[in-house]
Amino acid sequence: MKNQLDTLQQTVLKMVSEASCVQELTDIKSRFFGKKGEITQLLKHLAALDPTERPKVGQMVNAVKDMCFNELNIKRQQLERDEARKQLMREGVDTSLPSRWLGRGSEHPIRLTMDWITDYFGRFGYQIESGPEIETDYYNFEALNIPASHPARDMHDTFYLKDGRLLRTHTSPVQIHVMEHMNPPIKIMVPGRVFRCDADASHSPVFHQMEGLCVAKGVTFAHLKSTLEGFLRAMFGSERKVRFRPSYFPFTEPSVEVDVEWKTRDDGSIEWMEVLGAGMVHPNVLRNVGIDDAAFTGFAFGLGIERMAMLRYHIPDIRLFYENDQRFLSQF
Ligand code: FA5
Repeated sequence: MKNQLDTLQQTVLKMVSEASCVQELTDIKSRFFGKKGEITQLLKHLAALDPTERPKVGQMVNAVKDMCFNELNIKRQQLERDEARKQLMREGVDTSLPSRWLGRGSEHPIRLTMDWITDYFGRFGYQIESGPEIETDYYNFEALNIPASHPARDMHDTFYLKDGRLLRTHTSPVQIHVMEHMNPPIKIMVPGRVFRCDADASHSPVFHQMEGLCVAKGVTFAHLKSTLEGFLRAMFGSERKVRFRPSYFPFTEPSVEVDVEWKTRDDGSIEWMEVLGAGMVHPNVLRNVGIDDAAFTGFAFGLGIERMAMLRYHIPDIRLFYENDQRFLSQF
């Protein structure tokens, strides 16, 4: 039996060392160790042996088995490594080549403009606030002194939801949310998205506004004007012409709209771009949020961020902001 085992072991080890692929090793394994394999058959004969001999022979068979398995595994790992290397060579992967350049992202011009504005007002003590994009009629209109029958509602081209709520048409409702919870003095800026059923080269159905609100004792229209003039000068330079036009908003009195020089026409006249609406907070609005309108006054303004960015970067069409064209975006 011992001789038989030695011969088997030598045969297996020789075949293993001469194997040239993984498949050959698999064949060797099943030939010797499979169900009908030669070593498996030897183990079956153990039962026929004298009981005193059985443990010794059993140990010998197992030792041969372990030795052969060990060699098989070492050889398998070596062949697998060789095969992987050969495959790499065949497929010609050159790992030293530089990877493909995916390009570097840049900040969107709307984001850059918003950050510039919040930074600017932050230096004057304005806090950043936010509010919901889905609003109730009360916050978007009613509390801002725009009752249901008011013609100003038509100017807003509102998107209504089935449940009667709406997509906010401006950032002004955040004035109400903040004043309901904060006592004057209040100085806030509110950047955010707003929605209107409106679209052409300077109007988009979704656009960004930035609300400014300052409520304290003794705030006057002169404060509003100097705040906006200082801001527009800082953003566009003192050469750029700016004009204030009397206007109307139900939630401010008096109200203005501000235009910035956009282009000079062939006949030498100026084409203006309207960038914001503003005014002194209407006493009714202060009363709606429980602020004493005899003691406090305030100003508010609402900037169109896209328009600001168009002027800042000389962009002719508002729709360019939303097309995600890399050739456009990578310039910022
Ligand atoms: C308002 O939305 C007022 N809430 C602004 C305000 C706030 C007035 C506080 C007084 C006090 P208006 O509808 O004019 O106003 O919009 C303000 C600015 O948003 C405009 O000057 C313009 O720059 C920008 N804007 C308005 N509609 C669009 C649009 N469809 N696409 C892009 N920008 C727009």
